[in-house]
Amino acid sequence: MCGIFGEVSLSGDCLKRTINGIGSLEHRGYDSMGVVYKTKEKTNIAKIISPDQSKSANDLYGEISNIEDFCPVALGHTRWATCGKISLNNTHPHKGEKSYLAHNGNIINVSKLKKLLGSEKFVSETDSEVVVKLIDKYYSKSGDLINSIEKVLSLATGANSFVLFNQDFPDKLFCASKGGPLLLGKTKDSVIVASDPAAFLSRDVKRENLYKIEHIVAVSHNSWEIIEKKRASEIVDPFLDNGKGDYPHYMLKEIFEQPQTIKNALNGRTELDRGNAHLGGLHDIARDLRKVETFHFVGCGTAYNACLYGAALFNRFGIDARAWIASEFIYNHPYIKPNDAFIFVSQSGETADTIEVIKEIKMKGNICLGVVNVPDSRIATMTDAGVYIQSGIEKGVASTKAFLGMISVILLYAVFLARQRKMTIDTGIGILKMARELPKMIALILEQEDKIKKMAKKILRFDNMYFMGRSMNYIIAEEGGLKLKEITYKHAESYPLGEMKHGPLALISPDFCSVVIAPNDSVYAESLVGIKEILCRNGKVFIITSDDYDFDLPLDNIRIPALPQKYEFMYPFLTVIPLQLISYYIAVELGLNPDKPRNLAKSVTVN
Ligand code: M6R
Repeated sequence: MCGIFGEVSLSGDCLKRTINGIGSLEHRGYDSMGVVYKTKEKTNIAKIISPDQSKSANDLYGEISNIEDFCPVALGHTRWATCGKISLNNTHPHKGEKSYLAHNGNIINVSKLKKLLGSEKFVSETDSEVVVKLIDKYYSKSGDLINSIEKVLSLATGANSFVLFNQDFPDKLFCASKGGPLLLGKTKDSVIVASDPAAFLSRDVKRENLYKIEHIVAVSHNSWEIIEKKRASEIVDPFLDNGKGDYPHYMLKEIFEQPQTIKNALNGRTELDRGNAHLGGLHDIARDLRKVETFHFVGCGTAYNACLYGAALFNRFGIDARAWIASEFIYNHPYIKPNDAFIFVSQSGETADTIEVIKEIKMKGNICLGVVNVPDSRIATMTDAGVYIQSGIEKGVASTKAFLGMISVILLYAVFLARQRKMTIDTGIGILKMARELPKMIALILEQEDKIKKMAKKILRFDNMYFMGRSMNYIIAEEGGLKLKEITYKHAESYPLGEMKHGPLALISPDFCSVVIAPNDSVYAESLVGIKEILCRNGKVFIITSDDYDFDLPLDNIRIPALPQKYEFMYPFLTVIPLQLISYYIAVELGLNPDKPRNLAKSVTVN
């Protein structure tokens, strides 16, 4: 969470480049933005806040009078508030005696660090200000800036990264990371530091010129000095991103990219003649995976919903599996057998709650696998093996295409592991052939955009609603409800449809609507019973169903392509699409920006 961008260059263009840079990182937080920049005469600072998500990095220009001045160093920050409310005082960069600091992370022992500063007065409520003031305190005593940074880095607990500009070093930036994401990239006339590969997309940074900061690095305009090299430099794939194109929002663009998302995930990984998934990332560990008794999926938010799908699918294929919400895992004191393996699912690969579980499982010595989107992210590097989802950069805070990428890769895992066990070659062939048809089917659903938009407009008048489904489509009800809450701020609860009669039915009235996911699968008849129970209590029902069934109920409906019943476990790939679009269009109708939902950030790097 929070985006950091800094640049050092003799071109003198660092201020504008830094404002652009933090603009490209707004998916990491957009509560406020700030920049500190050096000009010939002085060190300048500009900040703005955006509590209603109305502003973006470019609005910083309104606060700057000397934009054309020669600027060889600049450092910017876009904030997702963790420590202290959204205010100008809490906006980064924060100032010490001689240093300015942009910080990402959470200093867990901040009160202890504060005590080391005695009676020092603070302008902000942030832990970041404590860090910069403490560094400057040590620096004023020792005259050694690197040592002072090192000392504070070792005193602070939690996953953190920061970049510091000190007025005694007017042509340098100092970068530090202790578990927080921070990358360096060399362009033809500058060095950039950023907390996310997205910042390098529009710049001429070559892959071989990227470095992942593991400790402390001093950066100048054409080189960097690694103060303590813990690991060989790693190459980060910054993906290819062409901006929003003709789409008004990243979320809509990413929804429409989904036929390609599945193709990317399956590309080169389906061996039709052997009815198997070819997963290079699992090659070296395949023999160990054959011995695994139970697979545990772990993730958060949308990634957790993908975990629910994974567990249900594995069980259907005869492999014992269960899903865990990462932040709840430890409290459950789960009994882990020596032969159990874990599959960690994450778009960003930086989610702190998920990382905590990896640490716990590594300590126990069980196999840790990954289903991750961002290459070389922490989860990708901490796990023993894994498969990238290859969805490309996802900028919308509400995850859409990454979910589809996750369940695509999970389907491949399931085939691979089931083929190791009891699945026949013919069954494997059939599943993989069907999977390769999914992109076309999704494209057909996307063609119904106008119809889905009309349904969204009808749902708009309801402030409270249920999302429901049976079997695997209950999982999609969870995902649909999460999407709606995130970007429309409407109240949605997700239930297995069969649970209605056990309590939730009490809320049904003409002012309460239910979105039911009920394709013509093996539980369709039961789903219709549930729908009728709502209708006879004057509840409003919207249904996502398949195009092979004629029902005589007067329901607003979206029809998705029908699947043969033996492949009904692939319906989630299709039923999720209309739900993403419904939430998107409700948000747009309400005048909300779906790319910047309030209170949220794309990567949740704090516990
Ligand atoms: O990067 P991750 O997949 O690990 O992120 C997990 C959740 O924070 C994420 O899915 C979040 O719930 C999204 N905003 C959902 O749209």
